Amino acid sequence: MNKQVKVRDRVFEVSLSEEKIKERVAQVAAQISNDLRDEHPLFLAVLNGSFVFAADLLRGVDIPCEITFVRMSSYAGTTSTGKVKELIGLKEDIKGRTVVVVEDIIDSGLTMKDLLATLHEKGPKEVRIASLLVKPGNLKVDLYIPYCCFNIPNDFIVGYGLDYDGEGRNLKDIYTVVEP
Ligand code: IMP
Ligand code: MG
Repeated sequence: MNKQVKVRDRVFEVSLSEEKIKERVAQVAAQISNDLRDEHPLFLAVLNGSFVFAADLLRGVDIPCEITFVRMSSYAGTTSTGKVKELIGLKEDIKGRTVVVVEDIIDSGLTMKDLLATLHEKGPKEVRIASLLVKPGNLKVDLYIPYCCFNIPNDFIVGYGLDYDGEGRNLKDIYTVVEP
């Protein structure tokens, strides 16, 4: 049986190990470095969930780059609210720049769609998406995700930056909820 952990009222079991995550994140970082070598990209990490992924990804990137942190309005519980989310905290001028959005997870894709719409109004050269996880089965919008580390099933997960009601972000592995 996979290692289990209790977060608040629910039991989760390991679905992606720390080692597997590290290995894959390094591959994607190498791919980004290769693709954007002359672009001096600005990484836009979407808080809170992406803080662990962003830290590992950026240390794997070996080209000149910058990172900044933004936030979209919140997500509560285990399902999407469906409301339009707003971008908070972007101070950098992205006009003419290559931007790489760094997300923890793309579920319905609605958060990313709102974010992309806001960014495109600011006249960037290009916006690319890097997401640690994607749930293809839940996607409600058409998104091109060139830098996806893992496609996962629709189950709720925690760990490696992702939370369940605020908890579990500090877990080193990624865990999937065990249905009772
Ligand atoms: P979307 O707008 O449906 O793509 O939702 C994206 C956001 O929902 C992510 O940035 C997470 O904060 C949250 N989210 C979606 N699925 C999960 C999950 O399985 N665990 C933790 N957070 C999730
Ligand atoms: Mg997020």
